[in-house]
Amino acid sequence: MNPISHDTILLEVVDSTNTWAKKNLSTFAQDKPTCIIARSQTKGRGRYGQAWFSPKDLNLYFTLAEKVPPSFSLPHYAEVATLAVQTALWDWQLPSSIKWPNDVLVNNKKIAGVIVEEASHENTSWAILGIGLNVNMGLDELREIDRPATSMFQALGTHFPIESVRNSLKEKLLELLAWAKNNPELCHKRWANSCSWIIGKEITIHTAPLEKITGIAEEITEEGFLLVKTPSGKVVPVASGHLS
Ligand code: BTN
Repeated sequence: MNPISHDTILLEVVDSTNTWAKKNLSTFAQDKPTCIIARSQTKGRGRYGQAWFSPKDLNLYFTLAEKVPPSFSLPHYAEVATLAVQTALWDWQLPSSIKWPNDVLVNNKKIAGVIVEEASHENTSWAILGIGLNVNMGLDELREIDRPATSMFQALGTHFPIESVRNSLKEKLLELLAWAKNNPELCHKRWANSCSWIIGKEITIHTAPLEKITGIAEEITEEGFLLVKTPSGKVVPVASGHLS
């Protein structure tokens, strides 16, 4: 198969590849995705303003920026990204699961996170899709993270060439993205299916710093909402949040 047309920009160090992409949108090709990869980030960002630990050369810090095509919307990018990480890890013999909505877990610990932001340039909407994948972090570095986290090295006991992991993830992401643009419903179903292990479990979702919802996960809807049945019997649709 022909490689999917795209541009790649490799950076030594940036504040955040997502922030850098937003600032440099006007220089990107209009008709193909631009992939931005940094060796380290000084202000890597996760969802809800959380910091993303980004030591030099140990992990993958990856952003894809492109004009959002008419058939597509921002949540699709997060679905594609989590599926692409899962597929890439599978190729390295590492089974993983997707934790609704945007995390990838190995052995119940977070190995990758995804953040999707929107930017606007000349009245056009752009998707800024950021992926952080923990590759070669050892226990010392993982202890710096305040939530249970793991890395490919920690899970499999071998170091991985960052360049190979980068190329493999980029290839999977571009392929899945091209497929999903023609099959958005199928992509959503595949993602929802990968997240479905949570259904029937008692969960707490932190939706804001001081807000949480506890109950039983009932269903993931076509729009990507998680339906949670609270102890009072009410079913609450939740758009996003941190699950614990
Ligand atoms: C999350 O799980 O909260 C999302 C983490 C996303 C981290 C990546 S690393 C590359 C890109 N640049 C950033 O500043 N954040 C994303």
